[in-house]
Amino acid sequence: MHTQIIPADDELAVISAAGNLTAGNLVGLPTETVYGLGANGLNPEAVAKIFEVKGRPQDNPLILHIADPEQMDMFCHNIPESAYRLAEAFWPGPLTMVLPAKDIVPLSTRAGLPTVAVRCPDCDVTRRIIRHANIPVAAPSANISGKPSTTTAEHVLHDHDGKIPLIIDGGACAVGVESTIVDLTENPPRLLRPGGITPEQLIAVLGDLVIDKAVTAQIDKDEVVKAPGMKYRHYAPAEPVIIVAGERKKAAEYIHRHFEPGDRVLCFEEELPLYADCNPLSYGQEADVNTLSAGLFAALRELDDSSIGKVYARCPVGGGVAYAVQNRLKKAAAFHIVDAEVAL
Ligand code: TXA
Ligand code: MG
Repeated sequence: MHTQIIPADDELAVISAAGNLTAGNLVGLPTETVYGLGANGLNPEAVAKIFEVKGRPQDNPLILHIADPEQMDMFCHNIPESAYRLAEAFWPGPLTMVLPAKDIVPLSTRAGLPTVAVRCPDCDVTRRIIRHANIPVAAPSANISGKPSTTTAEHVLHDHDGKIPLIIDGGACAVGVESTIVDLTENPPRLLRPGGITPEQLIAVLGDLVIDKAVTAQIDKDEVVKAPGMKYRHYAPAEPVIIVAGERKKAAEYIHRHFEPGDRVLCFEEELPLYADCNPLSYGQEADVNTLSAGLFAALRELDDSSIGKVYARCPVGGGVAYAVQNRLKKAAAFHIVDAEVAL
């Protein structure tokens, strides 16, 4: 199969993508967070292709993407008032809500769960595609399962060249980490995955929020978790990643003490001069956390190379979007963190 790339501003983009989706094919689609691998979310055969092409475990449900916030009622029921408030505040945008599913949502889309995750992405071309196809689009991040997510059309092509007919190229994703996921079937609501909408923003609307254990710690493969996707190894390059926490100078000292030929350093742009002899790669500026979230996955993909020994990574501190960056980096590092202030 030849994989075609059509720019988002090409007049054929919407028609071709919608045509492929209604025909039951997969399409690589841009969103403001990461690129998705989209299929007709109401068609079990089309949805099955997502699992096959990504190599995704069958028990990991998909997010259903809608074009307009009002469509939430078509696919969910018993919707609490708080969900409408969140939709009003953050949709279209990088927020996914877990709600009780209506029967119209096939079990394969939600991996057999009674709930479905819905999101209205802040991406004009993808919303136009969904409207034109007149179906909700089930889409995971377009990366091969376990690998860093896709934030450009080239990343999608790299992972799926010849396996899907079409990718819509909307340029690099602005947010760069996947959407925030909130489970609204519980009270208080539960944060299942941090993202572009921050815990602080959620609390301002909801009043209260529980942080799921899977956000902050490694989950055992056999543990029962709320977001099944959170227990799998994620975002991981081929080699081990070690987060080196602590003050800038102490971290550089620690890394220099342990650095071996073939290792790499993933750091902030401001730190590049400190690691001139350690083959450093910067993923953004510490002073602007949005550049870190936007650059993280491209950097992790660049470092996905089995000839690399280890990667020493620097991670931003604090809340807001930094909280999501910490979560992704910790998962990429399988929660291997050393504190340079105390470690030898
Ligand atoms: O930003 C995003 O959300 C991107 C773009 C393409 O929209 N999509 C994305 O999908 O990140 P994916 O499949 O990579 O991650 C979806 C996560 C998984 O961890 C999955 O377990 C969880 O959402 N999820 C989906 N449905 C769920 C449900 N009903 N209950 C709990 N967790 C659910
Ligand atoms: Mg994913």
